[in-house]
Amino acid sequence: MPAITLVGAQWGDEGKGKATDLVGNRVDYVVRYQGGNNAGHTVVIGEQKYALHLLPSGILSPDVVPVIANGVVIDPGVLFEELRGLNERGVDTGNLLISANAHLIMPYHRALDKVSERFLGKGRIGTTGRGIGPTYADKISRAGVRVQDMFDPKILRQKIELALHDKNQILTKVYNRRALELEQIYEEYLGYAEQLRPFVADTSLILNKALDDGKTVYLEGSQGTLLDIDHGTYPFVTSSSPTSGGACAGAGIGPTRITKVVGILKAYTTRVGSGPFPTELHDEQGEWLRRQGGEYGVTTGRNRRCGWFDAPIARYATRVNGITDFFLTKLDVLSGLDRIPVCVGYDAGGTRHDEIPMTQTDFHHAVPVYEYLDGWHEDISHARSFDELPKNAQTYVRTLEEMAGAPISAIGVGPGRDQTLELRSLV
Ligand code: IMP
Repeated sequence: MPAITLVGAQWGDEGKGKATDLVGNRVDYVVRYQGGNNAGHTVVIGEQKYALHLLPSGILSPDVVPVIANGVVIDPGVLFEELRGLNERGVDTGNLLISANAHLIMPYHRALDKVSERFLGKGRIGTTGRGIGPTYADKISRAGVRVQDMFDPKILRQKIELALHDKNQILTKVYNRRALELEQIYEEYLGYAEQLRPFVADTSLILNKALDDGKTVYLEGSQGTLLDIDHGTYPFVTSSSPTSGGACAGAGIGPTRITKVVGILKAYTTRVGSGPFPTELHDEQGEWLRRQGGEYGVTTGRNRRCGWFDAPIARYATRVNGITDFFLTKLDVLSGLDRIPVCVGYDAGGTRHDEIPMTQTDFHHAVPVYEYLDGWHEDISHARSFDELPKNAQTYVRTLEEMAGAPISAIGVGPGRDQTLELRSLV
């Protein structure tokens, strides 16, 4: 039975939590397959607003098994804090599953993330400072510490000792920081082991069995296509693979299992951190979008950079992810404009590009070529079907769909659970 993948089609913060929540009650498993607590999902249920960073959004649906799969990097302190926060609000988190193969974010990863960014100065990536990059770097260099290592105290100690051997040299000699203490880290992480044990499982085996049994598995990507380590605006990216291909490696599921890839697409564009962003608005219009859309980071509280919809980016996302359906979010934010610019291509040094330019240099210099669509002034947050949208809003959606190259199957008109128009079932 189907595995459905959900991916961010832009630079993250497209409203993936809302999309997952929409299908949350219709699937059996919701799986996070990459990233860590750099993510920020906001889910609004009734009067309650939940901000999740590490936990899958499915944790809020009682009949769903939430899974943190092998591709995720886990900061145990953050994990338990997030669980405690939900428990205090009456959310049962007892059926959470965590892969034994997931890597752990260690204190030296957080320290290195922060100091290396500081040293990069103007060239900084603008990371969330959560230790994500250094943890994935250690994973690839085969120097990482995994969840399962916590259950073997000797191995845990050995791995931390080995890591500190060179991390402390770097921290003290390159960055002029204090060395970190082996015993302190070892005791802290050993302390997490027993708390973590009830959740830990062979999640790849469980998910594959579930699929064999006809269950529906929802693979929830964090960040977005243009933050992908391979397909994003490198080096201004995160250190994992949010694209749909990453879902297979990050969850231990074969590509033949995936039947649908849902791209989450905001009706305009935002990004946080550094890096190219052709349609970015530096004027009052950008400030207006930020205010209207509440574009302030869930994780870091940073102002998001805001700009108009960029069609080549949406098309690119369709291509590299194999998107079968789009969920268009935050359409209501655009209400009140006389006309809405939509980027249909770029001019880079006098050359017209209809797709994202091949080189980062060209993308950095890309000046958007706009088409203008008529706007609408009605409040659309109460619309519950496509027909209830003003004609110009309908045309906006249909035009984006054509440009993006895949059907828009759902539309968000507000943050609430019920503020979604589902044109076709996403499950
Ligand atoms: P890192 O993931 O903390 O290493 O940050 C790398 C880049 O990804 C920075 O530009 C971050 O702002 C960006 N980033 C990481 N997580 C998110 C997210 O959930 N939404 C949007 N941007 C993110």
